[in-house]
Amino acid sequence: MPESGQTCLKLKNLKVHYGSLEAVHDVSFDVPTEKIVSLLGANGSGKSTILKAVSGLMKLTRGEIWFQESRIDGRSPQDIILKGIAHVPERRALFPHMTVSDNLLMGAYSRKRATKKELEKDTEEVYQYFPVLREKRKSLAITLSGGLGEQLAIARALMAKPKLLLMDEPLQGIAPSVVRDIGKLINDLNRRGITILMVEHNISMSFELSDWIYILETGELAIQGAPEDLSQTEYVKQSYLGV
Ligand SMILES: Nc1ncnc2c1ncn2[C@@H]1O[C@H](COP(=O)(O)OP(=O)(O)OP(=O)(O)O)[C@@H](O)[C@H]1O
Ligand SMILES: [Mg+2]
Repeated sequence: MPESGQTCLKLKNLKVHYGSLEAVHDVSFDVPTEKIVSLLGANGSGKSTILKAVSGLMKLTRGEIWFQESRIDGRSPQDIILKGIAHVPERRALFPHMTVSDNLLMGAYSRKRATKKELEKDTEEVYQYFPVLREKRKSLAITLSGGLGEQLAIARALMAKPKLLLMDEPLQGIAPSVVRDIGKLINDLNRRGITILMVEHNISMSFELSDWIYILETGELAIQGAPEDLSQTEYVKQSYLGV
């Protein structure tokens, strides 16, 4: 477990099934407050399933999920968003035939009590942070490049005013020249006080960005550590760094 002050998210003995397939066996880990934590592992190792379990999209067979002081497993996805956890899903799941601005508003869907004025203020704040999205606010999401699509997916999640952001492969499908920009954006969000749990296949960027790394192997945690220590281990050298 990473050394730090408070725990933002705590997973205890998670077990998750798709029908008879046990995708997550017995996973426990912590995400400390205001850190960037990466969850790595081969295709099918259970990374997305864990993020979906946290955001209430997958039911647990066993185990507990705690966010700050409350137990959240068994709650609805809507409740979980309202508590402060937003999910930027794998492949972004934008609404392709809706405009950029309508996609943003969908991010605030759970905030039913928010007034029109509050939403306008929040949209304005998001546009200040993502000026190109403002320029493109009337374009359909389907017309955006990979990098801009990811900006929109992140911006939409921010409309929920999250304290914890779950990011599933934020660097996937993005031109190499833009990968660093999205990395910087993730760092900036974290500096603004948002805790980040990220799943990535881009090993070098996740080692660069993260305070702590967990590596999954077929539904179980194989190894964990600070990136500078992990990169020295035989496990990571052989499986990930190709040396
Ligand atoms: N909707 C589904 N129905 C049935 N099985 C699924 C479903 N989604 C995932 N699985 C299975 O659950 C296991 C874990 O999948 P998961 O998507 O969590 O992996 P992942 O680590 O995110 O992989 P990737 O890196 O390819 O995104 C895999 O064996 C996968 O085939
Ligand atoms: Mg996945």
